Amino acid sequence: MIKTAVELLRNDQVAAIPTETVYGLAASIFSESALKKIFQVKRRPFTDPLIVHVCSIDQAKSLTKDWNRAAQCLADALWPGPLTLVLEKNEKISDLITSGLPNVALRMPAHPMALKIIEEGQVPLAAPSANRFGKTSPTTAGHVAQEFGDEVFIVDGGPCSVGIESTVVSLTSQESDILVSVLRPGHVKLSQIEAILKQNTIAYKIVVKEKFKASPGQMKHHYMPHKPLVMVEAELDEADILKRAQELIGALPDKSDGVEIVKPLKVETMRALILSESPQVAARELYAQLRECAEGDEDILLFRKTEVHTGEDWEAVLERLGKACSCRVSL
Ligand code: TXA
Ligand code: MG
Repeated sequence: MIKTAVELLRNDQVAAIPTETVYGLAASIFSESALKKIFQVKRRPFTDPLIVHVCSIDQAKSLTKDWNRAAQCLADALWPGPLTLVLEKNEKISDLITSGLPNVALRMPAHPMALKIIEEGQVPLAAPSANRFGKTSPTTAGHVAQEFGDEVFIVDGGPCSVGIESTVVSLTSQESDILVSVLRPGHVKLSQIEAILKQNTIAYKIVVKEKFKASPGQMKHHYMPHKPLVMVEAELDEADILKRAQELIGALPDKSDGVEIVKPLKVETMRALILSESPQVAARELYAQLRECAEGDEDILLFRKTEVHTGEDWEAVLERLGKACSCRVSL
């Protein structure tokens, strides 16, 4: 399987590969036509930049202009792993990958098959999550097949251990400081990143960037299952939830930031998402749960947000649920 994927990737084709976070739809960063295929297969707009996957720190360094000390320490501590670093790119990275931005997003995945494919192909791979634009990300090879059928070759590396996408952090040198900005929360938490920077006596400032400009893929709606998901933030009974959901869903636009908003013909039955109380397990199971629940006969899906879901450990899962939901019901 790995051999076939390497062959395809060397010959201007795309292939779906497993990573520890979610499955990715990969292309060689040096094949303009394969990169275009990613956007075509995903129906993704060219304005949403791609993450480049490497198999070593040296390979990452070779694609940037400003591999600063913060990047080195974080990569030393957390790579391979679910952390993406956004740094100033050099001329090897095409505008197609970064959507014209001066920075490139880089990550060394922890899945042994992903690393082997990058090593054997001897080329870094651009890979977004292997799902259609705006839809739920895949955490098994079966999910990818549901999404693309036999349109793409899939390397089956089993279910993903982390289950949600990497943390995306931009690191910019400014005089003697490094400006640190979390563009997408993930399994690696900001407190972990800060602890590593402090241990290495790196002067840094946390900055909050306007996400849509700094990281154009961060649309309001994303990860959406093919049935509306309703986030319930109050203790309401089923009849009240259905009534409120019907009104809210009815008032939604057909599209938001290019992502289609699904609307059922009726809102009479619902199915609750059952997530683990452990945020790590909840993350691992989240996308499979969203897909599985959407397969049922019910009209809508429901997530009840309670006091369990608080604190930094829940941030990433809640961010995904927030974007996957069509509307929120509160008091
Ligand atoms: O875990 C992951 O990161 C997975 C696996 C496959 O590695 N990949 C992934 O890719 O989530 P994707 O395309 O679904 O999300 C990439 C997001 C973009 O939408 C954008 O928000 C951000 O990463 N990004 C990529 N390149 C960027 C750049 N140059 N500057 C700022 N943000 C960038
Ligand atoms: Mg994605």
